[in-house]
Amino acid sequence: MKVIITENYEEMSKKAAEVVVELLKQKPQCVLGLATGSTPIGLYQNLIKAYKDGIVSFDGVTSANLDEYVGLYKEHVQSYAYFMRTNLFDHVDIKTENLNIPDGSKKDLEAECARYSAFLQSNPQDLQVLGIGSNGHIGFNEPGTPFDSKTHLVNLTESTKKDNSRLFDSIDEVPTQAVTMGIAEIMKSKKILILASGENKANAVYQTVKGEISESCPASVLQNHPDCILIADKAAAKLL
Ligand code: F6R
Repeated sequence: MKVIITENYEEMSKKAAEVVVELLKQKPQCVLGLATGSTPIGLYQNLIKAYKDGIVSFDGVTSANLDEYVGLYKEHVQSYAYFMRTNLFDHVDIKTENLNIPDGSKKDLEAECARYSAFLQSNPQDLQVLGIGSNGHIGFNEPGTPFDSKTHLVNLTESTKKDNSRLFDSIDEVPTQAVTMGIAEIMKSKKILILASGENKANAVYQTVKGEISESCPASVLQNHPDCILIADKAAAKLL
């Protein structure tokens, strides 16, 4: 794993954008795996700027998002589909028909997981962007998730619900389940870019880079990936 430590969040976001811009230039028809959450917002702002400056186009890009809450419709302001529209898709020239995200509002969630797995099977990611949970989760693959997992339904842990409750009016409003891309499907991406910012990620970053490869820290599996870059700001990297 290549580790880059930056001074702050802004520099982390800039360096992350450089990796994505390079891919978009080299392979305009790429499959781009994307994440939600606070961490990649700065990356997306840099990508929007690169698009507006005429440096890149998303016209040929197929997106593949990691996860979605169960029970929220695409139009719901807390849904990840809404997050992606407002933070990236509405501001660039990506085609609506090329946007892919699990649909957590489906009645038959098992069928939805199978559909999303089949999509990933025929459209493997050229690059997968990841954040990391304070418990080491990637996507919503919580500690204990088997490394060979495919897209599946998860019950969110109390720690993840607590972390994510800042975006809801109260913890009781945080959905209790999500559909997530599996660890095996993340690992199949040709390249992986994992971002971490802030002191609350320091332990997870340490376990990811220096800890033993174990299902107790899902992100530690990335040590086995042939082309993974971790960009962490100083605070997140403080235990390395
Ligand atoms: C989001 C996702 C999660 C987040 C992680 C960190 O699509 O899959 O794994 O990347 O929970 O979230 P933030 O960036 O909000 O700290």
